[in-house]
Amino acid sequence: MTVTKYGKLTVVPIEKIVMETPASATTPVKSIVVKIPEMAQKALPGQFVMLWLLGNDEKPMGIASSDPINGKLTFAIARIGKTTKALHQLKEGALIGVRGPYGKSFSLKGKRIAIIGGGTGIAPTKFLAEKAIEEGLEVTLVHGAKSKKELAFRSYFEALAQKKSLFHYFPTTDDGSYGFKGFATDGLQHLYQNNPNWDYLYTCGPERMMYKVFQLATTWSLPLEASLADRYFKCAIGLCGQCSLDPLGIRLCIEGPVLPKETLAKLTDFGKYGRDKYGKKYPL
Ligand SMILES: Cc1cc2nc3c(=O)[nH]c(=O)nc-3n(C[C@H](O)[C@H](O)[C@H](O)COP(=O)(O)OP(=O)(O)OC[C@H]3O[C@@H](n4cnc5c(N)ncnc54)[C@H](O)[C@@H]3O)c2cc1C
Ligand code: FES
Repeated sequence: MTVTKYGKLTVVPIEKIVMETPASATTPVKSIVVKIPEMAQKALPGQFVMLWLLGNDEKPMGIASSDPINGKLTFAIARIGKTTKALHQLKEGALIGVRGPYGKSFSLKGKRIAIIGGGTGIAPTKFLAEKAIEEGLEVTLVHGAKSKKELAFRSYFEALAQKKSLFHYFPTTDDGSYGFKGFATDGLQHLYQNNPNWDYLYTCGPERMMYKVFQLATTWSLPLEASLADRYFKCAIGLCGQCSLDPLGIRLCIEGPVLPKETLAKLTDFGKYGRDKYGKKYPL
C-alpha cells in the first residue's frame, strides 16, 4: 500500500555530492542531488522536504534548486549535529528517503527584488533567486556569513552574476574577510542608501536576522516574505504542533514556512521566542 495523503516517501540513490564550502569551514555545507521527477516538477522556492537518513532520523531541508526537465532536486546540508554529520558521511549511490515538497512557497511578486540569505537559509534563497531570474525579475542577493569560508555557493553566485545582468551578488561577512564587512542587514541598509528601487524583499536565515529585515521592511514600507526555517519541525504534516507560533497558532509546516510581513507583525513569537525539541519556549 502506498500512502500519499501526507506526501509520498521516495527512497532514491544520491546522484551527486558537491562540497559547497571549504572542508575547513566551521559549518561545512555539502549539496546532494537526487532524481525524483514528480517532486522536481512540483517543487517551488521556499518549500521544504523531510530527508530521511535510512535507519536513523528524518530532518527538514529546504530545496536549493529544482530541475524539472531532468527531474533533479538539490539540497544543501550544513553539518550541524548528529544527523547532518551522518548525512555528510554518505557517498554517491547511497540511499536516502525524501518526502515532500511541503509548505507554502515564496510568491515571486515584484520586479526589482532584494533577497537576504544567511546561514543555512541560503539554500531556499538560492532556488528563489534562480526562479526569479528565470521569470525576468531583477535580483539583488545579500548573502551573509560569519567569514569567507562560510559563504556556501559563493563561486556559483559570482559566476551567475557574470552571466546574468539581472543578478547582483552582495556577500557580507561579520569579520570582513570577504565582501562587505558587517551583518547581512548592515549590507542591506548600505545598499538601500543608494536608492536601489526595490519593490519586494524576501529573506531566509537566522531568525534574529530575519526580524531585523522585518523591522527595516516596516520602516521602508516595503512588502516582505520570510521563510521561518530556523525552527524545530517534526512531522511536517500539521499533526504534532511542534512548529506552531503564538498567538495565531500558525503551523509553519502547513501555513508556512514562508509568511508575509502582515502575518509576521501579528506573531509575538517571531524574533523573540523559539521552541526546543520538547516544544518548550526559550528566548532567542
Ligand atoms: C523548513 C526548514 C528548512 C531547513 N532547510 C535547511 C537546509 O536547506 N539546509 C540545512 O543545512 N538545514 C536546514 N534546516 C535545518 C536542519 O533541519 C537542521 O540543521 C537539522 O535538523 C539538524 O539536525 P542534526 O541532527 O544534525 O542536529 P541536532 O544535533 O539534532 O541539533 C542541532 C540543532 O539543529 C537544529 N535542529 C535539529 N533538529 C531539527 C529539526 N527537526 N527541525 C529544525 N531544526 C532542527 C536545532 O537548532 C538544534 O539545536 C531547515 C530547517 C527547517 C525547519
Ligand atoms: S512539524 Fe508537526 S505540525 Fe508542523
